Amino acid sequence: MLAPGPAPAGRPHPSEADGDEAEEFVRLHHDEHPDQPVPLTARQQQIRRQIDETGTYTHTSDELAFGARVAWRNSSRCIGRLYWKSLRVLDRRQAATAEDIRQHLCDHLRQATNGGRIRPVISIFAPDTPAGRAPRVWNDQLIRYACHRQDNGDLVGDPTYADFTDTVKRLGWQAPGGAWDVLPWVIETDQDKPQLFDVPPDLVLEVHLTHPDRPDFADLGLRWHAVPAISNMRLRIGGINYPLAPFNGWYMGTEIGARNLVDADRYNLLPVIAEHLGLDTSSETTLWRDRALVELNVAVLHSFTQAGAKISDHHTESRHFMTHLAKEEKQGRTVPADWSWIVPPVSGGITPVFHRYYEEADQRPNFYLDDDARARGTGGCPFGHG
Ligand code: ARG
Repeated sequence: MLAPGPAPAGRPHPSEADGDEAEEFVRLHHDEHPDQPVPLTARQQQIRRQIDETGTYTHTSDELAFGARVAWRNSSRCIGRLYWKSLRVLDRRQAATAEDIRQHLCDHLRQATNGGRIRPVISIFAPDTPAGRAPRVWNDQLIRYACHRQDNGDLVGDPTYADFTDTVKRLGWQAPGGAWDVLPWVIETDQDKPQLFDVPPDLVLEVHLTHPDRPDFADLGLRWHAVPAISNMRLRIGGINYPLAPFNGWYMGTEIGARNLVDADRYNLLPVIAEHLGLDTSSETTLWRDRALVELNVAVLHSFTQAGAKISDHHTESRHFMTHLAKEEKQGRTVPADWSWIVPPVSGGITPVFHRYYEEADQRPNFYLDDDARARGTGGCPFGHG
């Protein structure tokens, strides 16, 4: 076996902090919050010294919170950025074991769900450093529904998670076998092999779908979870990578009513709903898909509101995004945005976000989705072996 040599020149080991990016980040922090205890140049020297000695440096809790909030502000696919300053940042860098991490993830769900008054929260676990690999969670979100393959080839549950469900079953998950089984967490640390944990059901707020003027809509037995908490994106702040930094906001109705329950490779429910509503599906020109889609979105917004679970509609959220653009412009900042993600998947043209173009810059801090994280989420080998 070869002795581990230094990283080739110009290609720093990814676990090492990038000094230039660190410098730029603390400058941004000081620009936006000039009231710092340590002057900018002193802090920059401190960081350079730490990087020289250890290959990395440690963010203060202020830097961490600011970095996480700006990473949200820079997320070009997110329409909900008006509230970026209110992100609640939980510093979990000390958590070492899978069990510690499990407890903090539970606490995250508790604080985020907040009895239905959903709050944007991020939990930040230890970063990658030259001294050790950061923990990871294999799940792409903290709450997701499994998919079970039937003998006849049918899929029961959310088909996106068919492979991931196979993986967790191989790891020993005893699956109930229904269409709405919450997937267990797979937590991996440097010291240990991946550990499986069931998500405590009392921490998973779910909403059963009803329709304001169709009492029998409830018979379809549809539901969705109230908190979308993304757990596979790497948070990069000031040249440091935090691979485990799960974050959540609240739902915009269309994410559930026009995508999760509707996409052909997800629950694919438009035909079922159209039949339930008695629509004429004999031709596309009856617009039965569109009519079913609207009624499903009405049901999602109505049910969440009735259940006291925070949700927003795409008209309101689009207006808020326009407000965000105006506010940011006033601060002299550009708002990077990806049109194809910002425009809602229903009624795009009747929302204000449709009628303009956006800058598409990669501004840091930010969140990134790596190939290895994607592979974990789809049940592929996390080490890149297919
Ligand atoms: N679209 C994803 C889902 O349906 C969630 C993405 C984040 N959404 C949010 N509202 N923060 O689960």
